[in-house]
Amino acid sequence: MAEYVSVSQISNYIGQDIILKGWVYNRTDKGKLSFLLVRDGTGFIQCVAFKGDLTPDLFEQISHLPQESSVIITGAVREDKRAPGIPGGYEVGIKDLQVVQAADLDYPMSLKDHGVDFALDHRHLWIRMQSQWAILRIRSTVMAATREWLDNNGFTAMDTPILTPAAAEGTTTLFETPYFDEGFAYLAQTGQLYNEANIFAFGKVYCFGPTFRAEKSKTRRHLTEFWMLEPEIAFCDLDGLMEVEEQMLAHIIQRVLRDRMPELKFLGRDVSKLESITTPFPRISYDDAAKMIEELRDKETDPEKKELLAFEWGMDFGAPHETAITNQFEKPVFVYGYPSAVKAFYMEPWPGRPEVCKSVDLLAPEGYGEICGGSERMSSYEGLLARIRKEKLPEESFKWYLDLRKFGSVPHSGFGMGTERVTSWICGIEHIREAIAFPRTIKRVYP
Ligand code: 4AD
Ligand code: MG
Repeated sequence: MAEYVSVSQISNYIGQDIILKGWVYNRTDKGKLSFLLVRDGTGFIQCVAFKGDLTPDLFEQISHLPQESSVIITGAVREDKRAPGIPGGYEVGIKDLQVVQAADLDYPMSLKDHGVDFALDHRHLWIRMQSQWAILRIRSTVMAATREWLDNNGFTAMDTPILTPAAAEGTTTLFETPYFDEGFAYLAQTGQLYNEANIFAFGKVYCFGPTFRAEKSKTRRHLTEFWMLEPEIAFCDLDGLMEVEEQMLAHIIQRVLRDRMPELKFLGRDVSKLESITTPFPRISYDDAAKMIEELRDKETDPEKKELLAFEWGMDFGAPHETAITNQFEKPVFVYGYPSAVKAFYMEPWPGRPEVCKSVDLLAPEGYGEICGGSERMSSYEGLLARIRKEKLPEESFKWYLDLRKFGSVPHSGFGMGTERVTSWICGIEHIREAIAFPRTIKRVYP
């Protein structure tokens, strides 16, 4: 009896008969031969039907199989350097094939290029395509590697609520939902505040879940629903936080390079750019980054680009600024000490410089920009209360959060990492919407 194996395991079965279960991704007929590119969820492999090996009926059926038909194939595995697929290099000589369902002939996502709106309208089918499959496989590995690193480094996984009573990351991006007799609840923009409670019970924690922002801007870096990883650490300052970030990120990159090379290669990613990423990452202050932008602007000869780099101290960096900064480095770079006015209310002020806060953004190279945002948190009760009042946040909703500063407050820090931002960068793709199976953007909640 042949064994049922997956494409990802096929290299262990050279010379043996195996059973594959999957779908016909593509078919090419050449006289007595029919080449099927078959996908099974773990990879893509060429399966070859030779007329002389099969009954006339079966060969006839195979050579007319519509794209996306589901099939169970029995055949012999052989090595062939030229064979296409992911990873490629192997093929299966078909001995038997059972059609589970012959697909309708009008499959909308044929293998030609589609406009992006058409592709997004057919996202439920688009995810079957090689490029999309490769990106989402890498995303899954990014998430697994993230959890692996945290679980191996003393963090406790906590799940923070999605329905929350107030804004934590600004009131302009809140999704609001009626909530029984309580008025309104808001979809979580972050799990951070709850994780700040969690560290006083568990020391080092993380949450990893869907996060919601009613982003009104339409950019290639924003989704309205994305997956954020948020570690939070007791007795940790800004330097300690940066160490955690770079260690974790280096681990993610290493693991993707180890496990997802065929996918990266298929996407045409220049993996040498990822291989060269080692710790520590450069750290520059906001002040120095601002100077750097000024210098780059002075040097810029293209008036349009010059205009985009317009900047003065106190502003938040836009995408062109982040790109300009990251282009100066081969690795991700930390920028710390932003003006408090452009950051969230909970950040610890810089000692002796109240207009600056102990925040840090991690910017990815090659123009990708911010992938992580974090800070040391304000640990004093009075300071935090003053900040909540200044921002006119609903004090009642933050009573519990203020309690944390009354009962054993300690310096503590944390950050959030956007899964889709990291995945886009690692894959080298243009737009974040391809880094999640069913993207939600300002113009899209279908399918
Ligand atoms: O910088 P942000 O807004 O930070 C926070 O929410 C903190 N409470 C996190 C923390 O300290 N625990 O978001 C963190 C990261 C960003 O660096 C970015 O990677 C991602 O989340 N992100 C988005 N990704 C996709 N679409 C959006 N609209 C995003 N907004 C933030
Ligand atoms: Mg941020």
